[in-house]
Parts: sequence; C-alpha cells; structure tokens
Amino acid sequence: MKILDKYNQSHLLAYKDQLTEEEIKKLENQIKSIDFDLIQSIFDNKDKVIDTKDNLVAPLVATKLNPQDKEHFFKKGLESIKEGEVAVVLMAGGQGTRLGHQGPKGTYDIGLPSHKSLFHLQADKFLSLRALSGFSVKWYVMTSEDNHRETVDHFESSNYFNYGKENIHFFKQDRLPLVLENGQIAMKSSHEINLAANGNGGVFSSLHSNGLLEEMQSNGVKYVYLYGVDNAIAKIADPVFVGFTIDSGLDVASKSVDKENPEEKVGVICYRDHHPDIVEYSELPEDMRYKLDDEGKLLYRNGNIVSHIFTLDFLMDCVDKEIPYHTAYKKVDTYSDNGLIKADNPNGYKFELFLFDVFKFTEDMAVLSVTREEEFTPVKNKEGADSPETARTMILKTHHKWLTEAGFNCNLGYEVNTSISYDGENLSNKTLENVTFK
Ligand code: UTP
Repeated sequence: MKILDKYNQSHLLAYKDQLTEEEIKKLENQIKSIDFDLIQSIFDNKDKVIDTKDNLVAPLVATKLNPQDKEHFFKKGLESIKEGEVAVVLMAGGQGTRLGHQGPKGTYDIGLPSHKSLFHLQADKFLSLRALSGFSVKWYVMTSEDNHRETVDHFESSNYFNYGKENIHFFKQDRLPLVLENGQIAMKSSHEINLAANGNGGVFSSLHSNGLLEEMQSNGVKYVYLYGVDNAIAKIADPVFVGFTIDSGLDVASKSVDKENPEEKVGVICYRDHHPDIVEYSELPEDMRYKLDDEGKLLYRNGNIVSHIFTLDFLMDCVDKEIPYHTAYKKVDTYSDNGLIKADNPNGYKFELFLFDVFKFTEDMAVLSVTREEEFTPVKNKEGADSPETARTMILKTHHKWLTEAGFNCNLGYEVNTSISYDGENLSNKTLENVTFK
C-alpha cells in the first residue's frame, strides 16, 4: 500500500505474511478508514501551545437564580419537556482510564446503599422526570467501539431500568489511531490498529451519521441536553435549566459551578476573542487565575461541569464545523515482535475533539451558575478527589437535606430513591422505608 510508505506507516503490514485472509481483510479495512493526512497533521501540530496572550480573554458573567426565578423557569422548562421539545444525549464513550474500572464507567457502582450503577442513577432521573412531566424524554447514549456491547448489555440485563427500551437509543462514536512518540501508529495485535474514541466532540458527526438529528427533528425536538457520564448527581434535563435556556433566546447554555480555588484543574467558561469559549486550566495565565472581581470572588470562576443545552438547529450546524484536535500524552499499548507491550508510562498520543470547541461559533451563550453540592460530583479517580467516595458523600448529604426538608427525622446515610423524587419533591407523608435505601 503506497499510502503507508508515503506517511511512514508501513510497519502496519509488518506481519502480513503471518495473517489469515480474513485478518488481512480486517487490517486493510482499518487502514482504509484512516485519514493519514489528518493524523500526520495533528501529530505535527501536537506541540503547538495555545497562547492566551494572543487571545482577548474576558470574563463571562454567569446567572444565579433566586427562588422565584427558579420556580418560573421550572414551569417553563417542564412545559417544553411535556411538549416533547427536549431530548438528552449522554456522552459515555470515554475510556475512564483514571477510574480504572473494568467495563464502561456508567456500569460502575459508587457504593451507595442501593448499589445502583451510574447509568441506573441516571435512569432514575428520567423516571422521576417522567412522573413530573408525563412525557418520556428520549435518551441517546453515545458509546465507543470499546464499550458499546457491555453498555447495551448492562441496560438490557437491567430491563432498561424500567424506562422502556423504546426510549433509549445507543450510537457509537468514531475512533482514531493512537500514535507513538516516533509518529508511528500503534498496533493492538498483528492485524489490528490500536484505535481509541475521538473525544466527546465526536458527538456531532456521530449523531448525524446515525440519522439521530433528523430523528429528533421529526419528533419535534427543539432543545438537546448533553452531559457526561461521570457526574453522579447530574440533574438530567433539569426543567429549571431548560426554562432558563429558552428564556435566554440563545443557542447554547451551560451550567457552571464556582471554581473551588484558583488552582482547581477545571476549564473556565469565558469569552475568547469576543466569543464564548472554555479556557483550559493550563491555558489561563497565573494573574488571570488569581484575579478577583469587586466582590472578592475569582473573576474567572465558571467551572465547566459538562452540562449543556444546545438548540437542535445549532447542533445541526455543528456537524459541518471544523474544530481542532487536542492531544493527550498517554500510555499506549503496542504490538511488536514480542507481542503486546503494556505501557507503564506515557509513551504516545491520543487525539481528541472537545465538544466545547463549538461554543465559539455562537455570538453569546447563557451560563447558569449552580451549587456544586447539589449538582456536581464527578467520578474521575479511584480515590481521593473526584472519586466514588466523594460522590457518595455528596449524594448522601443532599438526600439527607431533602429528607429533613420533607419532615423526616433521620441520620445521614439514607439514599433517596431518585426514581420517585427528581429534586427532593414527592417525599412528604411517606414512610422512610418507602422512599429510601439504607
Ligand atoms: P473525560 O475527559 O473525563 O475522559 O470525559 P474519560 O475517558 O471518561 O476518562 P479518563 O480521562 O480516561 O480517565 C468526559 C466525558 O466525555 C465522555 C466521557 O465518557 C465523559 O462522560 N467522552 C470522553 C466520550 O464520550 N468520548 C470520548 O472519546 C471521550
């Protein structure tokens, strides 16, 4: 194959003589699916540092709602949900390497009394939202080749968590080859290239290529809520957020939490060159990281929690937009004469598209500032910060607050059955046994 010589990748066929015809076919098909020009250009540009000094970075003021506004937006959002105008997309194609769980991250049990998986906790929100709205919001779950089967099996074996198979759709995102430090594409076996999911920004083309945007359109969907799999307390399709987005009249809205401290490694929603954008922790110069506003709060404090609403029209526009590839220096396993070598240290690159890179295609976006304790507890690491333990603690605290407000006199440690209560409602005048797990 001439193309391999051109891009210095002829090692991909190094074991051709030892392969069966079927294996050769598989490998050739993989090779044909690769855009070598693209891979070469991402690799060549991987060390290009985004210099925020060249950009005009400015703070974006997020909105905090008072109780009256919340109530107003809740009603407005619920109305839209009832009308079938809202769909949900879950981005669950990531590898979850930091957590180190065998299997899709969504199948992980964070150790709550109910022992529900992250997917199950999310399904519960759909159930309680259905109880509030009378409508079954469609749930589109993005997987990747590596975790698709296990994800679907988890839903199937749990009877789709009683939400109805017809309301849940799975689709796969695309993959890109992993590349070693020397620029060579890594192999996984003698006849397989080592491919990995192309980042959560792959969601646009994958929704499109699977015909799902058109499906949403014909179903009358106007707003799409997109979120990540690892926020164990995510308020999925939160009616307040839906109402807030509709009221803004803008194409994109995001929820954010205040950064805990200037060094918290979270991207900040702000403006860059007069358009909304996210500036990564590493890109924000120190003086900006520490700068305070008039109230003494961090000026750049809108932490991104991967909780967004896009209008369907804008989502459709995103399909054709070109967004950059980001590079992560990672451990890359590779096959060679000695078989598959497991990397102990980073030795190669993973290229990823980020969903938020489309923000800049809008003139402005609406940002809703929410309370971390009520809305954001990501499960990223095995232990320490952002771990199953921190998620468990936060959820149990929130549920204790709900139970106390509903008139229960109980200790910390009861988990509310969120399939009957979306946000603390529907708990009064019931027995503790009926509404909780312990
Ligand atoms: P992360 O950036 O936390 O990546 O993803 P990850 O792969 O889950 O975890 P690590 O870094 O390997 O430990 C943020 C969200 O984007 C999704 C993830 O599933 C998560 O919901 N994602 C990430 C995708 O859907 N596809 C991808 O290719 C990458």
